[in-house]
Amino acid sequence: MNPIILGIESSCDETSAAVIRGDVIFSNVIAGQKVHEEYGGVVPELASRAHQQNIIPVVHKAMKDAGVKPDDISAVAFTRGPGLMGSLMVGTSFAKGFALARKIPLIEVNHLQAHVLAHFIQEPDQKHAVPEFPFLCLLVSGGNSQIVLVRDFLDMEIIGQTIDDAAGEAFDKCAKVMGLPYPGGPLIDKLAREGNPEAFEFSRPVVANLDYSFSGLKTSFLYFLRDHVRKDPDFVEHNKKDLCASLQKTIIDILMEKLVAAAEQTGIKEITLAGGVSANSGLRQAFWDGKEKYGWNIYIPKFAYTTDNAAMIAITGLFKYRKKEFVGQDVAPFARMVI
Ligand code: KG4
Repeated sequence: MNPIILGIESSCDETSAAVIRGDVIFSNVIAGQKVHEEYGGVVPELASRAHQQNIIPVVHKAMKDAGVKPDDISAVAFTRGPGLMGSLMVGTSFAKGFALARKIPLIEVNHLQAHVLAHFIQEPDQKHAVPEFPFLCLLVSGGNSQIVLVRDFLDMEIIGQTIDDAAGEAFDKCAKVMGLPYPGGPLIDKLAREGNPEAFEFSRPVVANLDYSFSGLKTSFLYFLRDHVRKDPDFVEHNKKDLCASLQKTIIDILMEKLVAAAEQTGIKEITLAGGVSANSGLRQAFWDGKEKYGWNIYIPKFAYTTDNAAMIAITGLFKYRKKEFVGQDVAPFARMVI
């Protein structure tokens, strides 16, 4: 019989709980935290307090939406890391308590592996195609930019990664410089649709191998704006759409150049996208272009499974459940976990 797994995610500023039966999702409840908006970024202490307030109602709703009772749950999977220590503590402690009270297995999940495995979440009504092993995953979020070689569900290797800022961070930091609210990625995406991507040219990093760098782009963008604003104080206001379009194109080109190289080097044509930045319309289009140009089979998960969510924790929990990879009550969160 298919196990029913409760997934818990609390690594950053989203408290989420999900219930999965086999690989079919029955609920995925996500509570965001508005409290950070006025600070232009996530404030760790406020995040952990909000998780404490949210966790019980969120789990309660996830079970209610799925139509299951605590007795029905076969195992509880939680994000062990990477993430903010205080935030991870809340989810970890809750999961431990739940597993102990119900006498069910406890499963630790690496948040980054979970982003990759989000491709395997199925909906109750309709099955969709999933990538075949081995596949490549471009994992791009607020904290990560990596190319992952995925040999099996729990056998992954990072073959390229950022040496400084993440792609999402580049979007968010450049947006902040333009006076846009946090998180700036979605807004840049929106404004870029009406701008000219060729209007401005920004410097591109030269980084060895399949690695990325985004901090230079952020700095050159800052100096570029400063020089123009000196001459015209309304420069940003007058050119916002073109700035967004040109910046977005630069970030996407940087991401795609290394992904194309990775596909060529490995000979892999199963190409997947994961993480919050995968919501970006330009990046999605670049994937479709890759399908045309290089004959890739591309896979992009549903938006709800690309940003931080517990459905991806639950599906990863399923693969670990099948291999009986359980942990004891002495497990502690791990802020700097790698794939
Ligand atoms: O995976 P995620 O939800 O969590 C973190 O790693 O924090 O990713 C959030 C990141 C933020 O940097 C946000 O600006 C970016 O994803 N993002 C986008 C878009 N939607 C979210 N970046 C560009 N275009 C978007 N449409």
